[in-house]
Amino acid sequence: MKRVTIKDVAERAGVSTATVSHVINNTRHVEENTRNLVEQSMNDLRYHPNSLARSLRSGETKTIGLIVPDVSNLFFADIARRIENLGYEHGYSVILCNSGNDLKKQRTYIDTLTAKQVDGVIFISAGESTEDLERLSKSNTPIVVADRVVPLSLADVVLLNNEEAGYTATKHLIDLGHTKIGCITGPSDVSPSMQRVSGYRRALEENDIRFKDKYVTAGDFTYRGGNEGMKRLLSQPDRPSAVFVLNDMMAIGAISTARSLGYRVPEDVSIVGFDDIELANAVNPALTTMAQPMQELADVATKRLIEKLLSSEGNWENQKFVLHAKLVVRESTAPWEK
Ligand code: RIB
Repeated sequence: MKRVTIKDVAERAGVSTATVSHVINNTRHVEENTRNLVEQSMNDLRYHPNSLARSLRSGETKTIGLIVPDVSNLFFADIARRIENLGYEHGYSVILCNSGNDLKKQRTYIDTLTAKQVDGVIFISAGESTEDLERLSKSNTPIVVADRVVPLSLADVVLLNNEEAGYTATKHLIDLGHTKIGCITGPSDVSPSMQRVSGYRRALEENDIRFKDKYVTAGDFTYRGGNEGMKRLLSQPDRPSAVFVLNDMMAIGAISTARSLGYRVPEDVSIVGFDDIELANAVNPALTTMAQPMQELADVATKRLIEKLLSSEGNWENQKFVLHAKLVVRESTAPWEK
């Protein structure tokens, strides 16, 4: 079947191909009647502009790649939604790639995005993968890294002061009278998790509470990881009376396990989460948590990338943007008098 061209559309509408191009690309005002004639002609012929040809001409595809570790985690789902919204508002389509915390898959996506000539990439890596970042920067694709610590030589970085947030969450529990405070961490190769644990340790040390290895257990940022981490902490004879859980997905799992083991939350064990995903306020008891500024994180990452895309000179100076979390006290923490 013969491919419909811009010439066919112009002939049917009785206008020049230049006018059709201006209607498609909004590159010049076209009188409403003429615009309607062109759009009707495109519909009648079922004509779709050849985006590849257009991008070859303009040198841009008006697309942004977004790589996240786990879209089933409501934190990343929320961030992806916000970035997609912002990209769309600025005339960019966002191509979402879910690496599923799999570095091999992540590498495949990086190659796909490069091959598709996306204009830029917002990258939240699965684990610490500077190598992938170097691969991306070799393709001279503007990059903004979010939520990970990477060398500024490779990309702009937008991230939370995780050590400060870990300290604040733990200090909240100490101020409630807890001295046996557990911690369920995120994956060991993820910088936000390591930094939150540092904040947890600093709060204990500054309040003369001895750090105990047995109270720290590895999680993986998933609901099941929270179940299993909480089971390990509560099965100890000298169990903690409070637990700092390094993200809300695990904290919700931890609450469920505590209750299934016969413990009341917060009366028998207090729980603090991290992120403030939408579910945090919907669970029972509502979760006390460290609220990440998700809209700000999406805003800063997306606007910085677009600023780079729109800037004429290519030799931009990469910048680091540090954001701050806020403690949101709800029902899952309580004073400890025992
Ligand atoms: O819930 C996912 C966690 O991993 C969040 O705390 C976010 O910071 C990411 O690093």
